Amino acid sequence: MSLSQWTAVDNYYNNLLLPEDEILEHVRQSAIDAELPPIAVSDAFGKYLEMMVKISGAKRILEIGTLAGFSTICMARALPEDGKLITMEYEQKNAGVSRANFKQAGLEDKIELRQGAALESLKDLIAENPEPFDFVFIDADKENIANYLELSLKLSRKGTIIITDNVVRDGEVIDMNSEDEMVKGVQKGNEFISKQSGVSSTTIQTVGEKGYDGFLLTVVE
Ligand code: DHB
Ligand code: MG
Repeated sequence: MSLSQWTAVDNYYNNLLLPEDEILEHVRQSAIDAELPPIAVSDAFGKYLEMMVKISGAKRILEIGTLAGFSTICMARALPEDGKLITMEYEQKNAGVSRANFKQAGLEDKIELRQGAALESLKDLIAENPEPFDFVFIDADKENIANYLELSLKLSRKGTIIITDNVVRDGEVIDMNSEDEMVKGVQKGNEFISKQSGVSSTTIQTVGEKGYDGFLLTVVE
């Protein structure tokens, strides 16, 4: 089993199930043009996020890590008329690319991008005492996953769904001697969530065009 086979299967299913999407293709191209790292979610996972938002009936979404706004647009387009998404991005360049993409997608009224370190943006947001979020997607620097989980829980309510991306990393997550800061960040996040009361979690491993990884699904009880 190899990346080429996983990619071929992704292509097979995407051709069958995912309609051509000019907006998302534009987002992908904008990321290439701006030379952003190719680490956005796959088309299939983007569709999965869109469907999760729809199934859950989420009206308020929080995203940590915007990049070029691919996952942001997938989720925001599933929101109802009065829905809102706040997305947080550290890099000014990425924020600029994303804002242009939100406009192009006609979603600029539903999406608010807060540029800066997400730890600060989250603390500011908590201080605003907003309505709780229904759905959270954590997909930023892996070193801070535990912090992002902890702060997201302060912005949650019973039933809030939290999805954390990239928690398997080619299986390296089980190497407790790993020197990789991303792997160590994932392990710290796992330690945090496993000890947290009032939440229920599971991890699903994934393979596909982005390799071997997985996501953590958490629901607040
Ligand atoms: C990386 C980050 C991601 O969010 C992802 O989905 C894949 C890779 C990374 O930083 O390497
Ligand atoms: Mg990711």
